[in-house]
Amino acid sequence: RLASADRHEDFLQCLESQNFNSISKVIYTPINSSYSSVLQFSIRNLRFNTSETPKPLVIVTALNVAHIQATIMCSQKHGLEIRVRSGGHDYEGLSYVAVIVPFVVIDLINMRTVTVDAASKTAWIQTGATLGEVYYGIAEKSRTLAFPAGVCPTVGSGGHISGGGTSMIMRKYGIAVDHIIDAQVIDVKGRILDRASMGEDLFWAIRGGGGNTFGVVVAWKLELVPVPASVTVFNVTRILTKQDASKLIHRWQYAIKKFDDDLFSRIFIWGANSNQEGKIMIQAAFTSLYLGGVDRLLSLMQESFPELGLVKEDCIEMSWIESTVYAAQFPRNSSLDVLLSRIPRYSNTFFKGKSDFVREPIPEIALDGIWERLNQVDDQLAELQFTAFGGKMDEIAESSTPFPHRAGTLYQIHYAINWNEEGIEAYAKYTSWIRELYSYMAPYVSKNPRRAYVNYRDLDLGVDNLGNTSYKQASIWGIKYFKNNFDRLVHVKTAVDPANFFRNEQSIPPLSSW
Ligand code: FDA
Repeated sequence: RLASADRHEDFLQCLESQNFNSISKVIYTPINSSYSSVLQFSIRNLRFNTSETPKPLVIVTALNVAHIQATIMCSQKHGLEIRVRSGGHDYEGLSYVAVIVPFVVIDLINMRTVTVDAASKTAWIQTGATLGEVYYGIAEKSRTLAFPAGVCPTVGSGGHISGGGTSMIMRKYGIAVDHIIDAQVIDVKGRILDRASMGEDLFWAIRGGGGNTFGVVVAWKLELVPVPASVTVFNVTRILTKQDASKLIHRWQYAIKKFDDDLFSRIFIWGANSNQEGKIMIQAAFTSLYLGGVDRLLSLMQESFPELGLVKEDCIEMSWIESTVYAAQFPRNSSLDVLLSRIPRYSNTFFKGKSDFVREPIPEIALDGIWERLNQVDDQLAELQFTAFGGKMDEIAESSTPFPHRAGTLYQIHYAINWNEEGIEAYAKYTSWIRELYSYMAPYVSKNPRRAYVNYRDLDLGVDNLGNTSYKQASIWGIKYFKNNFDRLVHVKTAVDPANFFRNEQSIPPLSSW
């Protein structure tokens, strides 16, 4: 193997020799004064922004397809690993960190055109576009069309849609990948493929099989979905004793089974300060988006979940696009322009997340145990999200896309812990906390396999062995993320990238390593 400095030089020469229009202007190396700011701009987790974090040899902020093709071809020629970054929200930083060094980052920040055709209810979006940019682009053309993707506007459409893309209208329409009707991908040979030329197997795999595994997705074609001109939102917070929290949330688990498909429901749960008698208190925010008017919503809630005590004053009618601003917690009446900012609303923290899928209601007594654990860490650092599934999600076959969490999933749990102190001690304290909670939850969540959501990537589930992962090893996390779809993903990978060029610590291995 060549020394890193030689490889670096050879790689750069390779890129520049091909004279791909102006590529030298978008190449950043550590000697370049903008290198750190370009690298850090899309880092969303301070865990991967330390002096010990492995840094890319080169970042290419591609301006066009030719720049991506050149980077793929030269990286292969010089034995460099590639990471592709869209919005940089990967929970384990895999779009800009690699254990195998040296590596190269293709950053898609400059490729973010959104072209909406309201007449055909479709849009082509380049994968460097954030969800906020996509929603904004749709709203410029129509206030009654939407796209079912995630809540945080700075999430990138490249990574998000590669992993599934759950949304606030998924009980009505399913998730992002259920509405991808074409794509443009650059494969390991540098070819530009669309749906017809890549074939249905690869087209199936890129819609949920995880990022940086099958090629670089340059653009998605979206099928937009209709929404009413006015939708209704609410976000009501209850501060409850441990017992009352368990009662109310226990009841919610039954209520969501009866919820109308037009009604999305999520609970954000934090610990709260103990009250004067020293009792554990829980703060639970019940958040909803209803595809209809307030009166109908109130009567639905009265029928199915009266215990919440929702009143008209809790509810706000607005357009769907305004609801995306509201859900992202911007102040009321913020300009839609906030959707265009790539800088997150809240500052970055050290962060670890995990996920689970619940198929049977969790008993009250077991919920008590969760709240006790929430109160072991400072208020607001730990947050749980319970997100109701059901509705349209139950009707889509598990094999229709690689995202398998469909019929029978009652709700999804997202566990998150954020902290601000640097160093190994804080890391150990908070990651142990979340791992202990995760292990406590085992009896109450999906089993055989215990399922997980690839977009909430969790390296605790297992990691690749420096690019030589066997099928058996990868199936440890692969079956949790993809269930029975894992085998088909392995077959597609084997056909399109048998040498495993596109890979990361949890990507799908080719069959040669079976
Ligand atoms: P990033 O750029 O880090 O990419 C993630 C992965 O995809 C990496 O492996 C990367 O290499 C690969 N990749 C990126 N672009 C690619 C491309 N063009 N071609 C091939 N591979 C590519 N999820 C959800 O379903 N619903 C939600 O509401 C939210 N909300 C949310 C909020 C916040 C604050 C965070 C941090 C995360 C979420 N997520 C989420 C999870 C999110 O969907 C997940 O982290 C995505 O992978 C992020 O995509 P980015 O493009 O931002 O990440």
